[in-house]
Amino acid sequence: MIALVPLANVESAAVEALLDRAFGPDRHLRTAYRVRAGTMAIAELSFAALAEDGALLGTIQCWPVTLACDSGALVPMVMVGPVAVSPEHQQQGIGRMLMERMLDAVPGCASEGCQTLMLVGDPEYYGRFFGFTPDRTGQWRLPGSFEPRRLLARGDVVPDCAGMLGARVRQAA
Ligand SMILES: CC(C)(COP(=O)(O)OP(=O)(O)OC[C@H]1O[C@@H](n2cnc3c(N)ncnc32)[C@H](O)[C@@H]1OP(=O)(O)O)[C@@H](O)C(=O)NCCC(=O)NCCS
Repeated sequence: MIALVPLANVESAAVEALLDRAFGPDRHLRTAYRVRAGTMAIAELSFAALAEDGALLGTIQCWPVTLACDSGALVPMVMVGPVAVSPEHQQQGIGRMLMERMLDAVPGCASEGCQTLMLVGDPEYYGRFFGFTPDRTGQWRLPGSFEPRRLLARGDVVPDCAGMLGARVRQAA
């Protein structure tokens, strides 16, 4: 039986090792890392999947970001990811369990911007299972290269303004 626990319960070194195995050691160069640089993960939306023996099988982290619209409006949102499952446990439903656990936490989430989620990822996965689409992200700019079809969002109030996405640095709670 797999247990889903707050990510804060897991040693950060184990999380980093899992991310290296899932994405490769050059993962820090990805545009998604640049977007959220300098901010802290949102604890109430970040989880780990553990095996019965306590082994770390997967993680999901979420981050506070802001779309700075060229009009001057600042729209808080949550960036989802990385979602990572250890290579030997992929395709067993763990990624979906982690995403569903995170989505279950959204209605009660106290962090600003929780109701609007975005990510850079495969629409064949995040669209098919979780309803993320690129429909309103076409004018967004990120601090690095990305494929427009992989810039996805979910929620009733996704902003469709032209603007720059970046980290939202929060006060410690
Ligand atoms: C992507 C990832 C999080 C999915 O988690 P998972 O536990 O392996 O996948 P699940 O068991 O939840 O889902 C399996 C289903 O999703 C599909 N799927 C998995 N990854 C997919 C992807 N990247 N694109 C399209 N479909 C995908 C599988 O084909 C399978 O479909 P089926 O049920 O019709 O056979 C995981 O494979 C992973 O960590 N991969 C490496 C890192 C990565 O690429 N992360 C996502 C980057 S956006």
